[in-house]
Amino acid sequence: MLLKVLLFAFVFGCATALTAPCNVCKTGSPSGTCKTVTIDPCTAQPCGLKQGTNVTFAVEFTAGAAATALTSTVYGIIAGTPIKFNLPNPNGCKDSGIACPLVAGQTYTYTDQLYVSELYPSINLVVQWSLLDQASNPIFCILAPAKIVSK
Ligand SMILES: *[C@@H]1O[C@H](CO)[C@@H](O)[C@H](O)[C@H]1NC(C)=O
Repeated sequence: MLLKVLLFAFVFGCATALTAPCNVCKTGSPSGTCKTVTIDPCTAQPCGLKQGTNVTFAVEFTAGAAATALTSTVYGIIAGTPIKFNLPNPNGCKDSGIACPLVAGQTYTYTDQLYVSELYPSINLVVQWSLLDQASNPIFCILAPAKIVSK
């Protein structure tokens, strides 16, 4: 019985997601209001991003304005220097849980995956994730402290 409980805790404990209030970027004036960020898998901040795996980011936000197109940009800020991450799917209107166009005042949950390359070094960084509208203005911009961990 105890073994079963432990096994359950182990299996699910390893695949836990972390939901936190948005830690928003210090610069820029996003049109939307970010509510929560969920990072999966992650047990505590800074999140350990495992090389060779996909990490899912889900951002709950309220749109402040209508938007017809959505593009994600992600940077890893390493010792103050932003380095661009390439996303497998940067199109925020596709496979993201959002049906475009965005309607002002509505709350959405945007979901996308970041592939953690095995080429990334094991270092601490801050993930800066922005969702941009058709005019490249930010809808939200969040910061998530993280560290790349080897597999
Ligand atoms: C990561 O996601 C991409 C795109 O969805 C998929 O092709 C790939 O197999 C995934 N990799 C792993 C290790 O799950």
